[in-house]
Amino acid sequence: MKLSGNTILITGGGSGIGRELARRWHDLGNTVIVAGRTRDAREETAQGYDNIHAMTLDVAQPGEVERFAKEVVERFPELNAVFNNAGIMKYEDITASRDLGDATAEVTINLLGPIRLTDALVDHLKTRDNPVIVNVTSGLAFVPQPKAATYSATKAALHSYTLSLRQQLKGSIEVIELVPPGVQTELTPGQSEREGYMPLDAYIEEVMTLFQQQPTPEEVCVEFVRPFRNAEKDGKVGEFMEMLANR
Ligand SMILES: NC(=O)c1ccc[n+]([C@@H]2O[C@H](COP(=O)([O-])OP(=O)(O)OC[C@H]3O[C@@H](n4cnc5c(N)ncnc54)[C@H](OP(=O)(O)O)[C@@H]3O)[C@@H](O)[C@H]2O)c1
Repeated sequence: MKLSGNTILITGGGSGIGRELARRWHDLGNTVIVAGRTRDAREETAQGYDNIHAMTLDVAQPGEVERFAKEVVERFPELNAVFNNAGIMKYEDITASRDLGDATAEVTINLLGPIRLTDALVDHLKTRDNPVIVNVTSGLAFVPQPKAATYSATKAALHSYTLSLRQQLKGSIEVIELVPPGVQTELTPGQSEREGYMPLDAYIEEVMTLFQQQPTPEEVCVEFVRPFRNAEKDGKVGEFMEMLANR
């Protein structure tokens, strides 16, 4: 991925990882569009940044994704990069029958969201120079957090989908997977102050250093997430799951 001169869409750019990525890519000389459901949040990301633009998007609504895709291409025909970053995470007890509302929302937002948005923009991206799709998965794609079973499953599925996307788009669109470890954001309530999670600033700093490598790594994995990424190869999945279950 080139470092400047891109027009980059970041879903979920109103907070956390998406917000900080938006600002860092902006400062490198890129046009950035942040999209999400909460107006105040996305406008706060853009405030004081000449070339960050805020737009409304709910990736859970198929019609809304199509409407948004048309509008973003009309307003920003140079759009060449899409970060599928929007996501939600819920803890759940799967040992007894329950309301599946949260699980359904996680699949709809975390998995179908990137599939739908990519579908709506892929034909446009192919017309641009240096097109790129960045899918944000998680270390939990590789070692599930048993207390967040559906979330972990959506990220494992998105990892798989990203592999297929990269293979099918070879030579046409660059496909990158961003694999965060636990990072101090409000993805779950109180997480931004929880110990054992990587501070957001340090995470973004290391991520941007990895993006400076040319060619960009297919998987952008900071050091902190590598043990999870490599757990299966290292025979550590069971051990790490035990650790997560007791957190
Ligand atoms: N922080 C971590 O520990 C961690 C670890 C691994 C992976 N990740 C992944 O990193 C990504 C960013 O998470 P984060 O930590 O930065 O948490 P965050 O601050 O909660 O950001 C998630 C963003 O997604 C947006 N979003 C949620 N549902 C949406 C929908 N239906 N349509 C459009 N936007 C939606 C939210 O904005 P609105 O509510 O305004 O729409 C929010 O800005 C997620 O995919 C997450 O799974 C995070």
